[in-house]
Amino acid sequence: MTDIPRAKNYEGNHERVREMFKEIASDYDRVNRVISFGQIDRWRRRLVSLMDIPKGGSVLELGCGTGKLTRLIASRIDGGKVVGIDLTPEMIEIARETLPQEYEEEIEFSRGAGEELDLQSNSFDLATSAFTLRNVDDLKKVISELARIVKPGGKVYSLELAKPTFPGFREIYNFYFNRVLPLMGGIVQGDTEPYRYLVESLKRFPNQYRLKDLFQSAGLTEVGFQEIFGGIAAIHQGTKREP
Ligand SMILES: C[S@@+](CC[C@H](N)C(=O)[O-])C[C@H]1O[C@@H](n2cnc3c(N)ncnc32)[C@H](O)[C@@H]1O
Repeated sequence: MTDIPRAKNYEGNHERVREMFKEIASDYDRVNRVISFGQIDRWRRRLVSLMDIPKGGSVLELGCGTGKLTRLIASRIDGGKVVGIDLTPEMIEIARETLPQEYEEEIEFSRGAGEELDLQSNSFDLATSAFTLRNVDDLKKVISELARIVKPGGKVYSLELAKPTFPGFREIYNFYFNRVLPLMGGIVQGDTEPYRYLVESLKRFPNQYRLKDLFQSAGLTEVGFQEIFGGIAAIHQGTKREP
């Protein structure tokens, strides 16, 4: 059980996020492949290739969704355990239904919120997330929860959409992201609303430099990030201090 007191009521915002992911759950992977031009799996693989996954270790994945990243981590954990946590039951349902038998031992899915992880402090080797932090209600709280549950010396990672800064490319990308993408999402899925949410969620989200600051403010050290494809996305990492 968590030793963090329940300070805030997240239920209202969580309900809205859950409703949105419930609506798109069955189309989520297909639409993401289309709107990322097939790059999304490659980005997840890049995250996993950067993670120091210890043999027989333990990894928490926050916002596991349909379990794509969870399975990639499991393929490298060699006798260890990956726990995938997500707010939306419908996403977890797909993760469970599509889980190959070979990973049944390594993976456990569970419902939960990143702001209040029902997990022991200092209990995981690594904590990670992909395209999740942008959706959470209280980003600072979530990062501090991820830092809390990893062991001293353990690492926290995030793969998330970011904001290209290179002039010229930035404008072209912003046009694609803000204007073309909701239309494409609408054509592929038949509803533009989730993709308007996607645009808004990135507008609200801090850029990659500010996210690095937030990792540091959560007490993580050796914090850094790598940009992907000119800053369309970024992978952040930080280490929990040894006592
Ligand atoms: C964009 S999906 C990413 C799914 C998956 N990580 C991937 O690589 O495709 C974001 C996921 O985060 C979950 N989520 C959003 N807010 C959350 C929160 N506060 N706590 C836990 N999960 C959350 C959503 O339910 C959704 O499944």
